[in-house]
Amino acid sequence: MNITLIGLGYMGLPMAAILARAGHKVHGVDINPAVVARVNKGECPFAEPGMSELVAEAHASGNLHADTAPVPADIFLLSLPTPVDHTTHEADMSYVEAGAAAIAPVLKEGDLVILESTSPLGGTEVNVKAVVEKTRPELADKIDYVFCPERAIPGDTLREMVENDRLVGGLSERATERGLELYKTFCKGELIPCTAGEAEMVKLVENASRDAQLAFCNELHMVCDKLGLDFWRVVKFANHHPRVNIFTPNAAGVGGHCIAVDPWFIVHSAPEIAKQMRATREVNDSKPLWVAGKVREAVRRMGKDKVTVACLGLAYKPDVDDLRDSPGAVVIDELANDSNLELLVVEPNIDSWRRPLTPLGEAIARADVVVCLTAHKPFRALTSRELQGKQLVDACGVWRHLDGVTNVI
Ligand SMILES: NC(=O)c1ccc[n+]([C@@H]2O[C@H](COP(=O)([O-])OP(=O)(O)OC[C@H]3O[C@@H](n4cnc5c(N)ncnc54)[C@H](O)[C@@H]3O)[C@@H](O)[C@H]2O)c1
Repeated sequence: MNITLIGLGYMGLPMAAILARAGHKVHGVDINPAVVARVNKGECPFAEPGMSELVAEAHASGNLHADTAPVPADIFLLSLPTPVDHTTHEADMSYVEAGAAAIAPVLKEGDLVILESTSPLGGTEVNVKAVVEKTRPELADKIDYVFCPERAIPGDTLREMVENDRLVGGLSERATERGLELYKTFCKGELIPCTAGEAEMVKLVENASRDAQLAFCNELHMVCDKLGLDFWRVVKFANHHPRVNIFTPNAAGVGGHCIAVDPWFIVHSAPEIAKQMRATREVNDSKPLWVAGKVREAVRRMGKDKVTVACLGLAYKPDVDDLRDSPGAVVIDELANDSNLELLVVEPNIDSWRRPLTPLGEAIARADVVVCLTAHKPFRALTSRELQGKQLVDACGVWRHLDGVTNVI
């Protein structure tokens, strides 16, 4: 198949490379010329296991080419950002609408358009089909539209993109059938036919459900601390129950482009009813500020006029370079209000940030207080000798096992 794929980001580029490996001719499109240039050199612009090799292979095979503009194809895939407006909690579908407007001029009768971006209920119809038909009214009912949400996880994207089960939801039965035919060419997981609306809602529900589990663990962490109980032991003991599975945090809060965002799309569509989902978001958003409070507690214990705090981890989860909705950044921005603090920021997975970054060894050597904001591997490997004499704010429970260190949490 000739496929034009719009949006070569964390999800779009792996999908483009997988489709190219499956033998399709993929024309990848991105508005960022730097991304296009990297892909056309056979390089992956972000860190993801296996991607450097796969993009190089797809490029060398001649099946993957990138450009800044779409070309005619049989199938069009949209993998564009769908952030939330943090004031109104409404999905920002402007990127998807821009992508739909960009493909409209090159679409022809019989093409298949697939939206993979996480979208609110009705997104495929309203933000893609309607946008195409606004400029190409003659194509009404002559194009098939499918919603197929992406469920892969950064860090294991390539395996999950192929092995995960997928929902394939067409705006018509014929569209669903055509979508199934495409995903069959590379997907080893079960392909589940459904409606576009079901697929849109299920993707949101999956992330809202995980958000709720994380809010339970985050709230419990704060409650146990308030009551003077060891949260980690409470969770461990509770999880001995055969039907209980409480999470433990691996970051200072809930961030990233999915779990911290998608539940709002449901809340926004049914604000009077989705009370628990709203409360869940609020609990998770409050956690980084609570962690900042624990840092201030540790700082007070030092009893010094000027205290150096090493803040370890900006990525929203361990061992990735994705800083979107970073809970670590919320903690750092909050602490930046305190004039008695010198903040050293450590993030081994990126080269630069809006504040200077400090190498891990130097930050530990200079710090009075060390804060684990994301449980990256090098932070988990720190020894009691390296952390001796520091006040530790261990939001991710990575240093609990070390003897002779002072943990504030
Ligand atoms: N990253 C994840 O873990 C993940 C997982 C599952 C689902 N999703 C969903 O997948 C979708 C894409 O997410 P992502 O993480 O790949 O986003 P991303 O920001 O990494 O990538 C989006 C890409 O689209 C490009 N772009 C923006 N507007 C464009 C336009 N008009 N034309 C062409 N290119 C354009 C950007 O330059 C960027 O390279 C989102 O809806 C997201 O919610 C993401």
